[in-house]
Amino acid sequence: MLKLSLADFTLEHFMQHYWQQKPVVIRQGFKGFQDLISPEELAGLACEEAVDSRLVYKKRGKWQAESGPFESYDHLGKKGWSLIVQAVNHWSPAVAELVKPFAFIPKWRLDDVMISYSRPDGGVGPHIDLYDVFICQGSGRRQWRVGDTGPHRQFAAHAALLHVDPFEAIIDVELLPGDILYIPPGFPHDGVSLEPSMSFSVGFRGKSACDMLSGLADYVIDKDLGSTLLSDPGRPVHTHQGHINASDFARIKAQLQSILDDETLVADFAGSFLSRTKCQLDLQALDEPLNADDVLAALEQQPLVRTGGLRCFYLDTTVAGGVCYVDGERHAFGAKAQAAVKALCDHDTITHTQLRAAVRLPVFVAALVQWVNAGYWYFED
Ligand code: SIN
Ligand code: CO
Repeated sequence: MLKLSLADFTLEHFMQHYWQQKPVVIRQGFKGFQDLISPEELAGLACEEAVDSRLVYKKRGKWQAESGPFESYDHLGKKGWSLIVQAVNHWSPAVAELVKPFAFIPKWRLDDVMISYSRPDGGVGPHIDLYDVFICQGSGRRQWRVGDTGPHRQFAAHAALLHVDPFEAIIDVELLPGDILYIPPGFPHDGVSLEPSMSFSVGFRGKSACDMLSGLADYVIDKDLGSTLLSDPGRPVHTHQGHINASDFARIKAQLQSILDDETLVADFAGSFLSRTKCQLDLQALDEPLNADDVLAALEQQPLVRTGGLRCFYLDTTVAGGVCYVDGERHAFGAKAQAAVKALCDHDTITHTQLRAAVRLPVFVAALVQWVNAGYWYFED
């Protein structure tokens, strides 16, 4: 298991003073770190339709970006290009391990593990991201410059590449295998490979109010909620017909507010919405589906492993009813399943003991069987 070592501060200190606030270099954060996937395997993944990847390079001094899947890399030289693959934790159990050392940040904030393989002088150019990222250096060395937040001009260096103007560095370091560079959103940065190198970026991203409200609107429509019309019995005589007056405005706001004040509705929406994956999962459905007895017998012998990138959550508001949200779906298993639901959401591998009370509940077992057959959770042997 990968272990994060912080020589200069504690995790508490990191969260209090750096997280979302300022970039920092964590030298040898992963001692003896070795690539979790080879460049060849990464290049192979980028040839698959379901995998989100891109190539970034310069041609006659002009930035270029191509989206995968790729058929060949023959048009690229020995230098000056990067292959970037998103959500590799969905496709490689070894890469999914890299999420575990960051369990001090809740899973709902996790975006994905993006990996880049860069040739000497390769990089994506100076840019600003909207997410927090821990860039873990694998093989090879890479020079990173990070600037301060501020009014940086952004421009399209290519239709698919948003760059920033040159910036003054507040961090200028050569990352060696095992080093980690943490960058919060809004800090311009530029990484240029000094030799063939691999970077493993564990990204965390918050949603905007816009994302949440548009998701909530979809949820409310989908579930046919909030369809009661605004009503105003006893309305006084209105004097200015074109005026939406203060009491009408208060009524309009109260109508909207009543949705947000419904704790269960918002919890069910948030759980479902946040448990949806942005990138496709590598779901390996079983060729020969198991029945309940098969699943329970296997579970007594070995743990169930959650497939990489699968998101499942519970909230205080609804967990007493054994409610959890798995890959965008709400499941309610009843109060007796509360401990099992928490264990299922908190751990990447789960044992029979942890599910003890719930395996007696037919509704829970039925869901478990469906998840195992669909590949959401799997037995390693
Ligand atoms: C990269 O690894 O090439 C890009 C990482 C980043 O700057 O976001
Ligand atoms: Co970046």
